[in-house]
Amino acid sequence: MVRGGAEVKISVIGSGNVGATSALFLAEKELGEIVLVDIVKGLPQGKALDMMQAAPLKRMDTNIIGSNDYGDTANSDIVVVTAGLVRKPGMSRLDLLKENAKIVRSVIREVVKHSPEAKILMVTNPLDVMTYLALKVSDFQRERVSGMGGVLDSARFRYFLAKELGVSVKNTSALVIGVHGEAMLPLPGHSTVNGNPITEMMSRERIDKLIEQTRSAGAEIVSLLKTGSAYFTPAASIAEMVEAVVNDKKAVMPCSVYLQGEYGLSDICLGTAVKLGKKGVEEVIELELTSEEKDFLNKSATQLKENLKNLDSYLNDQV
Ligand code: NAI
Ligand code: 2OP
Repeated sequence: MVRGGAEVKISVIGSGNVGATSALFLAEKELGEIVLVDIVKGLPQGKALDMMQAAPLKRMDTNIIGSNDYGDTANSDIVVVTAGLVRKPGMSRLDLLKENAKIVRSVIREVVKHSPEAKILMVTNPLDVMTYLALKVSDFQRERVSGMGGVLDSARFRYFLAKELGVSVKNTSALVIGVHGEAMLPLPGHSTVNGNPITEMMSRERIDKLIEQTRSAGAEIVSLLKTGSAYFTPAASIAEMVEAVVNDKKAVMPCSVYLQGEYGLSDICLGTAVKLGKKGVEEVIELELTSEEKDFLNKSATQLKENLKNLDSYLNDQV
């Protein structure tokens, strides 16, 4: 936990399902001190105490603090933002965007004030829109603002692939880029079993079935849970990304990042492969895509740009 004489500090904003589970998974990795924040009084404090009392059993030499005060997050190395609403029945995607835009803008302002050197990892949905908002509100370089979506979607793709082929999940790798949501872009040509591309092992129909399962995985969990959305795999994805940064792993993972000409796209946050290390997003990797995949990515980027227009009034402080 003490790296180069300095304690690593990770703050997690929002102590609901995703935030609290991420704090636990991060604590298990013993990456540094964790500060869990929420607007609800007592919630982060209660969850932090509960997790700390599990520390002797889980053999976690770590410290988790619960707080309602951003002062306690001061000088964080990484801030994970999970604060916000989950879409409820009857709530449109636009309503969710507007509600979460207000929350994320206020959270990011606090983050910038208290941790001006932090890397920000966005989680709140709609993910690519909120990552863009965080980048603009913080005015940080793109290296320091990323969004978690692709790691989750790729894990789901790997799970369905392993199940379909009856192999260990450990032998699979997969890559899902693009928008985090139904317009995600799973890349079979970049997905493998034991290093062999799945395009050489399976029929197009079987691959399409896996893609469909991956695209609807989040919605399937929402319909089963009824009040809330997935959080175990999202939290595991967050912990993997934070670990890559804290331990300077230079790990290649898909995440939402501000594009500056990659895929011919700019002024948009979208999922692609990146190299994660101690500076954050140390490299944005433009992958080779088929012409069909390029078209799909361009169409979803056009739709996303339309959605970003809804942020104008938040960025101009009119709302
Ligand atoms: P949740 O409802 O369990 O927790 C959200 C927490 O945020 C609540 O405790 C709430 O009090 C808190 N909060 C609200 N406003 C706040 C503010 N201004 N400051 C601090 N805390 C505040 O929801 P859950 O399941 O944890 O999901 C959180 C967000 O993450 C949602 O927007 C959800 O859609 C998104 N999500 C994104 C994923 C991704 O892959 N990017 C995966 C899973 C969830
Ligand atoms: C998911 O994909 C809700 O973004 C979340 O499960």
